[in-house]
Amino acid sequence: MKILRSEYIKSCVEITDCPTDHPEYAFIGRSNVGKSSLINMLTERKKLAKTSSKPGKTQTINFFLINYQWYLVDLPGYGYAKTSKTTRQKFEKIINKYILQSPNLMSLFVLIDGSIPPQKNDINFINTLGINEIPFVIIVTKSDKVSKQKVKQNIEALKNELLKMWEELPKIIITSSKSGIGKDEILDYIDEVNKTVKNTKIN
Ligand code: GTP
Ligand code: MG
Repeated sequence: MKILRSEYIKSCVEITDCPTDHPEYAFIGRSNVGKSSLINMLTERKKLAKTSSKPGKTQTINFFLINYQWYLVDLPGYGYAKTSKTTRQKFEKIINKYILQSPNLMSLFVLIDGSIPPQKNDINFINTLGINEIPFVIIVTKSDKVSKQKVKQNIEALKNELLKMWEELPKIIITSSKSGIGKDEILDYIDEVNKTVKNTKIN
């Protein structure tokens, strides 16, 4: 699948303000992991989603309509230690509400920084998704930042952590927003899921 048309639609804080007219694919992960950059990489637009080298850039749920048919959803990051506890809790509330209550969320993509070893808050977040039976795919980001060998090592360590709690591992896609690696794999996956919802009525 190719993205021919991408358009920013809306930012919201309350789940009741979110659009409900198309299937949604959302990106979640620690602040600074590369969620907004991945949206720009997939859509081949440099500034569609706002990015920053400083964590905590995305603060609302942002909807981007793709090919007039489905939404890419950019979420605030979790676990940014330097922000106040109140702000952190506010973002966590927004994220949790969206994940648990969005009726058209088809697939959640959990972004994990492939250039560093697995982080405790990432493992905790993934385990919570599992406990709540929320399906997700893992997207490994920033694979260009270290050697292939190192990325592989970090992924193996992540898998080992998850296997302590779960018998099955989710689908894992390796990406780089710099080089474009992983783009086709993500878009093909979304295409496949979209086919399964074609007959489902969405308001
Ligand atoms: P928040 O909105 O703060 O939660 O962050 P985010 O997850 O949206 O991260 P964002 O896309 O803003 O990127 C954070 C920083 O990482 C920016 O400086 C990006 O240029 C950089 N970055 C993102 N993806 C990649 C990547 O694949 N490779 C490299 N080398 N840098 C990346
Ligand atoms: Mg962002």
